[in-house]
Amino acid sequence: MNHKRVLLIVGGGVAAYKSLELVRLLRKAGVAVRPILTAAGARFVTALSLGALAEDPVRSDLFSLEGEAEMGHIELSRSADLVVVAPATADLMAKAANGLADDLASTTLLATDKPVMMAPAMNVRMWLHAATQRNLATLRGDGVVIVGPDEGAMACGEYGPGRMAEPEAIFGSIMTALRAGRRPLAGRHVLVTAGPTAEPIDPVRVLTNRSSGKQGYAIAAALADLGARVTLVSGPTALATPAGVTRVDVETAQEMEAACRRALPADAAVCVAAVSDWRPDAVFPVKLKKGHAGPPAVTLVENPDILAGLSSAGPCRPTLVVGFAAETNDLEANARAKLARKGCDWIVANDVGEGGSGAGIMGGDENEVLLLDAAGAQRWPRAGKAEVARRLAERIAAALIPGESA
Ligand code: CTP
Repeated sequence: MNHKRVLLIVGGGVAAYKSLELVRLLRKAGVAVRPILTAAGARFVTALSLGALAEDPVRSDLFSLEGEAEMGHIELSRSADLVVVAPATADLMAKAANGLADDLASTTLLATDKPVMMAPAMNVRMWLHAATQRNLATLRGDGVVIVGPDEGAMACGEYGPGRMAEPEAIFGSIMTALRAGRRPLAGRHVLVTAGPTAEPIDPVRVLTNRSSGKQGYAIAAALADLGARVTLVSGPTALATPAGVTRVDVETAQEMEAACRRALPADAAVCVAAVSDWRPDAVFPVKLKKGHAGPPAVTLVENPDILAGLSSAGPCRPTLVVGFAAETNDLEANARAKLARKGCDWIVANDVGEGGSGAGIMGGDENEVLLLDAAGAQRWPRAGKAEVARRLAERIAAALIPGESA
């Protein structure tokens, strides 16, 4: 990303402080940041901190062309690979949607021929107002990529959609946009398992777990973004199929195993599903009634281990097999034992114990993982599941394609 450049327009909103963190993430990834601060934005963050983090002078004035390094709004608008507006206020969105140009930010947005991304941030009523929703539809129609907003408690005391997306999420979308067109995994097939399995007890009851499927779906999406043909074998989830991904719905571990086998050959397999280790040995054909005989005895039998099966599939074994490990204690030791026991190449481990950094990870939007392979362990910082997925997809591309680096 060393040669990539983002033009970042910081609008006026409490969320402007989060844009400082966004700048830090971009700089760390080697992306050059050229900042524009609106007059309202300057009421929330200073040009000094924004410029210092971006390592580039902050532009604010449409009519200042004094210094040698100064460039006009036309040149400025073409000087980046991507224009990002964060926070995008209701006012900035309205101006951009209607082609108004009365300051440096809006003029740059009108003059640019580069892709534009906006991270809206405003009060919930302002966001839901028909005018903003109209402008949003116009901007989307014009090809602007919208990131967020999130739903939650707002600085004004209200609750609802309107909070700017977290810097990590905006960063992930920026990286995806900057990489658009780069498809190192084109022509490769990757199998991903995701979600829980549901093992029937009787026609209305199942044995299942709390997996949301979010991490597996994010990985499938990130792999597809890199050009892979992705087969997503999914247990029951409430999630939408990511663009460009072929989804095969299953319920039980046995169905998941059969669907995985059918999906082979694959260059890589990523087993993210929380597969039920056991299933009732027989399914009661009719709904179990309370009756007088006391609680029914359900005998469990072990399910096939899909990850271990793929790892030992002989000539059908994918070149790279990646497993996940959800642990509540002794994370690294347990994950390393799992790596050996299952015969896979990598284990992505996370601590789902109450005291662990992963508390709330199951079903949550963030993950903090430890990546283990035969050579060692690498701890990744806590990040949104999309960002963890993007990083893993890059690493998979680097492992499969000579010359690619994660
Ligand atoms: N897995 C699988 N099939 C199973 C059980 C697990 O493919 N029947 C895969 C999961 O998708 C994950 C990895 O194995 O990639 C580890 O899952 P986990 O539940 O952490 O491990 P278990 O095999 O259940 O081991 P343990 O009970 O010791 O935690």
